[in-house]
Amino acid sequence: MEKNIINNKDYWDKFYLDFNETLESDFARFCSDRISGLSDCVIVELGCGNGRDSKYFHSLNIPLFSFDLSEVAIDKLQKLGLKNSTFIVCDFKDVNSLSGKLNDVTKNKIKVFYSRFTMHCVNENVENKLLTWLFENMTEDDYFFIESRTEFDELYGQGFAFDGGFITSHYRRFINQENFKNKVLNMGFKIEYEAFSKGLAIKGNEDPKLMRFVLRR
Ligand SMILES: C[S@@+](CC[C@H](N)C(=O)[O-])C[C@H]1O[C@@H](n2cnc3c(N)ncnc32)[C@H](O)[C@@H]1O
Repeated sequence: MEKNIINNKDYWDKFYLDFNETLESDFARFCSDRISGLSDCVIVELGCGNGRDSKYFHSLNIPLFSFDLSEVAIDKLQKLGLKNSTFIVCDFKDVNSLSGKLNDVTKNKIKVFYSRFTMHCVNENVENKLLTWLFENMTEDDYFFIESRTEFDELYGQGFAFDGGFITSHYRRFINQENFKNKVLNMGFKIEYEAFSKGLAIKGNEDPKLMRFVLRR
């Protein structure tokens, strides 16, 4: 248990050795529906995991710039050799190191930043770093799609408290949707869409109450 606290990367690397979900998420379909009218865009995926959603966006001919903490997951995705797709190992805490590469890949395209079930994997300092990086790298044409677990989650309180979240097999920080909303508004983001609901990511017996936002600058 102690090792998981110190090194989240070990947990996710082990997880992706044999996690083979191929079906895209409901959130990926929600995102693709909303951006289907855009002529020239690139998905910038924060925490692509095994690439279930990356492969879906790729199948729709949308270029990808995806990154994740897990070397195991990224190595498998790089080996697929998907066209117009970049997969990079990056810890969110080091996200500023990606700005140069991001500019090279996205050039004059509309950037669609996409984070599904990843913001609750990091502590609030890293969340703040990510939001600042997003704001600095977005123009009025760009989008930020986010879906995350919240405090109204059946898993909330399970395990033991650590760094603003809880540790079970790994770290989760359940987000207070109102606080998140006020934070992004104070930063200067505009809210184009918001939802706070069950029924968005049903998996087996789990139906967590999630937050979804589409943010603009
Ligand atoms: C619950 S999974 C979601 C993956 C994918 N977005 C999906 O919906 O299937 C969380 C992902 O966040 C990644 N992650 C966790 N902490 C991270 C960090 N500090 N930096 C970058 N990625 C991280 C994990 O490796 C994992 O792929």
